[in-house]
Amino acid sequence: MAKDLHSHILPKLDDGAKNWEESLTIARAAVTDGVSTIVATPHYGRISEPEVIEKSENLIEELREKLKRENIDLEVKLGFEVFLSFETLERIKTEGEALAIRDTRFIFIEFPFLFLYPNVTSMIETIVESGFIPIIAHPERNDTLASRPELLYDLIKAGALSQVNTGSLTGGFGSRARKAGFLFLENSLAQVVATDAHNATSRPPLFSPAIKALKKHFSDEEIKIFVEENPSLILQGEKPSFFPQPIKRRKFLL
Ligand SMILES: [Fe+2]
Repeated sequence: MAKDLHSHILPKLDDGAKNWEESLTIARAAVTDGVSTIVATPHYGRISEPEVIEKSENLIEELREKLKRENIDLEVKLGFEVFLSFETLERIKTEGEALAIRDTRFIFIEFPFLFLYPNVTSMIETIVESGFIPIIAHPERNDTLASRPELLYDLIKAGALSQVNTGSLTGGFGSRARKAGFLFLENSLAQVVATDAHNATSRPPLFSPAIKALKKHFSDEEIKIFVEENPSLILQGEKPSFFPQPIKRRKFLL
């Protein structure tokens, strides 16, 4: 069963679920699609309020109660999607546990969509030296990484993992993001596929459309690694093993 490490299922915090009704609709749709676990990853440091951590801790408890009451068989865990900046890097160094997927040292980070910081590799190294493992959220949606996918290699070699969105694999973010997403997975530069669900309609919590797209290029065993086995390891606090391959630019252009 798929385990979704990236979701904006908690209501009224960011651009994800607007209310409890939408949260529960997301939960039901995920379960129907075969998802057993969702990590709620509200935005932190970009469009959220400073008190988002405390609010999220209360909301995840409330979500657990509501799921139980509604008989929805879904496990939920709290994490965050941290917008990487000078300020949030400092926060990770001093209080990373509050931002990590609970009971693990893994922290989702996101980059600006339009560019990469010139010192991004050293920022990743700083996170790793602080004892945390950054998971780069949807690198295929970053303009620089999508147009120069070979650049992701250095970030993975510096100790990061990365996660591709289901919506990218089905073409929802354009053909460049789709190609980059496949390329990252093919070269073990991305290890996880997750939904980054924001609602039940335009950005849904579903894996099946992406699995269908993945089947054209990957075996069932490989797909299971991306949607279930690597996410399970991460939830247990273990780093998946993988062998990142540098991307030859020529290969991408062909
Ligand atoms: Fe997200």
